[in-house]
Parts: sequence; C-alpha cells; structure tokens
Amino acid sequence: MSTFITGISELRTVSELGTIKNAALLIDDGVIAWVGPAEEAPAAATNAAETVDIGGRAILPGWVDSHSHMVFDGNRAEEFEARMAGESYAAGGIAVTMEATRSAGEERLDKLVEERVAAGHAGGTTTFETKTGYGLNIESEAEAARVASQHVDEVTFLGAHLVPPGADADEYIEEVVGPMLDAVKDHVQWIDVFCERGAFNEEQSRRVLEAGKKVGLGVRVHGNQLGEGPGVKLAVEMGAASVDHVNYLSDEDFELLAGSDTVATLLPACDLSTREDLAPGRKLIDAGATVAIASNLNPGTSFTSSMNFCVTTAVLQQYLTLDEAIEAATTGGAKALRRHDVGDGKDPQGRPAKGTLVPGAAADLHILDAENAINLAYRPGMPITWQTWVAGKKVYG
Ligand code: NIG
Repeated sequence: MSTFITGISELRTVSELGTIKNAALLIDDGVIAWVGPAEEAPAAATNAAETVDIGGRAILPGWVDSHSHMVFDGNRAEEFEARMAGESYAAGGIAVTMEATRSAGEERLDKLVEERVAAGHAGGTTTFETKTGYGLNIESEAEAARVASQHVDEVTFLGAHLVPPGADADEYIEEVVGPMLDAVKDHVQWIDVFCERGAFNEEQSRRVLEAGKKVGLGVRVHGNQLGEGPGVKLAVEMGAASVDHVNYLSDEDFELLAGSDTVATLLPACDLSTREDLAPGRKLIDAGATVAIASNLNPGTSFTSSMNFCVTTAVLQQYLTLDEAIEAATTGGAKALRRHDVGDGKDPQGRPAKGTLVPGAAADLHILDAENAINLAYRPGMPITWQTWVAGKKVYG
C-alpha cells in the first residue's frame, strides 16, 4: 500500500536532508520511500494508491519517548500536592504505587497501558519505551514485562527501582539478578537501575547491570537525579545506551558523556514536578554530548506523557534551540534506544529507523496543526498535534 502526502508546508526530516519547504512525501509499505520538494516528486508518486493533502501543515518525525514507566496502577496526587507545598521528593514514594500495581491484575494493567499509549499517540509520540518497576516481586515484575511487551516498542526491566519495604537490600538484589531476571528476560530488551541515594548504590547497580548484560540485555541507568553520584560514570563504563535524569553533573561527567555513545536523557516534566533545577541540557549539548528528551511518564515524578510539553520546556527553559529540542526528542530518543538510522534509513538491527524521515525509515509522522514547528514553543500548551501516523497508518486525528 502506498500513500503520497502533499500540502506539507514544512517537512523536518531531522537528517542531513534538513527541513524542506513545500514538500511531499511518499510512503510504501509503512516505510518512507521518498521525500523532497513537491515539484520534484517522482513518477511513482502519481501512481500511489492514495494521495493525502494535509492543507499546508508541518510534518516532523513522531516523538521517540525513550523513558517512561507506564505499567502502574494508583496515583500519588497527595505526595505531589505536599511537594508543591514544600516537601522534597524522595525515592521511597515508589512503594506507595507498588501495592496498587501488585493488586491490579493483568487485565487492568493491560487496559491502563493501552490507554497510556493512546494518550501518547494523541500527543505525537510514535515510539515508546517503558519500564517495569512498580511490582518489585517476581510475579508482579513478570506480569508488568508481559503487559508492556504487548503494547510498546522497547521494554526495560527495572526490578532494581527500589528495595521493597521490609526487604533486605542484598537479598532483594539477589532476587533481582536471579529468579526475577529469569522470569522477565524473554519479554524485555533492556535492564535499568535507579542508581541514587535512597535506592541502589554503585556496587549494587553494577551487579544488576552485569547480570542483565550476561543474558543479552542492553543497559540503561537512572542516574544523577537527586545529587552528584556514580550514575553517569557507571553508565559510560558499562556501555549504557542512555543515562537518564542527569540533573547533577560533575565536570568529569560532562567529559565522560561527551566522549562516549551514552546518550544523556533530559526529563524536563520530571524536573518541574520534583522542583529540581532543570537538567543542564544547554551545557550538555555545548560540551558535545548526545542528548535525548523523554516524558518519564510515571505516577511519582512526572504524571504526563506529553512530549510536546517536554520539547516546549526544553526550548523555553533549558535554552535548547527548536532544532536541538526536536532532534533530542526524535533522533536523540532513537539513539537512546539504538533504533536510530545507521545508513539507508535502517537501524543497527536492519529495521526501519525511528526518529528521522528519510527513505528506508519508518513512516512515523507527527503532523502539526500549524504551518511550522516553531509553534510548539511559540504557542505553548496549545493543542498542536493534528494527526499521528505509525508505520504509514493514521493512529490519531
Ligand atoms: O524516573 N527516578 C526513579 N524513577 C522514576 C520515578 C519513581 C517514582 O517516584 O515513582 C523517575 O523519576
């Protein structure tokens, strides 16, 4: 099935092809077949099964949300309200949503995740990563991994999110790297650890990541959220695809990130919700690090999946240019998930790449109800997502 899209006022390819005005785009079998100025469209375009005129709107790649925690039940509105009244955030709150998640049942969790993916589509997100980490026992973590794998592109095992209340930390780690990892490993691609005071220390975190690596999982780290610490260093040492939060960084951390393939993932909605200073996105880019922007959807620190909001915040408050923020939320996220274009529009595993609109890449489109993408920041908070397409099919709008 082929679709020819015309009436594109601005096409942001987020690639060397740059931004094309008065553009057109040809999709064949869920993949981008051609992009360019409308007047240069190839003959194949006129034979497309359908032609869609989007009426002078902008297209960019769908957002790649490389960090979220969608598998949970319950909420922590009271904790949030107390924070807005001056309390500070602590890792321990995770235990509150643990009980609700454990007792929800697979059917309800499945429905919740499905709804959360639909909400993401409504905000222009087309690629989703999500983590386990609110079950914190073998049965519930395995359930979370199964549910997540039915709905998202990449699933991360985060049994090491918190030591559950009453458990001994070292015994819990043994369970995480042993039977729990065994129970989830067929449903996940990644392993993660909350390497932070109040959660897991460097030695425990390394043990978790090494165990994941041993069974073939990719590595990611929650690090440097609440203070300077070993997260970034450990992530780089372990060859992590991404280290996420990165609020408190030493000079050495900046150098390590700039000199490695480990993506620094900014989570601006979380920073605002926890009243932390926003992560130093500008400084990371200036230092030469690869940066991603993600929603961090979760019940404790970021109860939003709005990538539009995160991109707007990165521009208005973290001093990224529009181009930088869009790149971070598309190809940056794709790099953080190793789904980026490594040539011919294909990712490292030869699949259509995410986060870019070049021939060979996935036809994942975010169509704005605006002539150009600067409206994301120029008209903050306005309903700007007009349509969302995944693999050449409209999923929203
Ligand atoms: O990424 N930082 C650790 N995990 C989540 C939030 C956990 C929670 O408080 O529920 C995060 O912010």
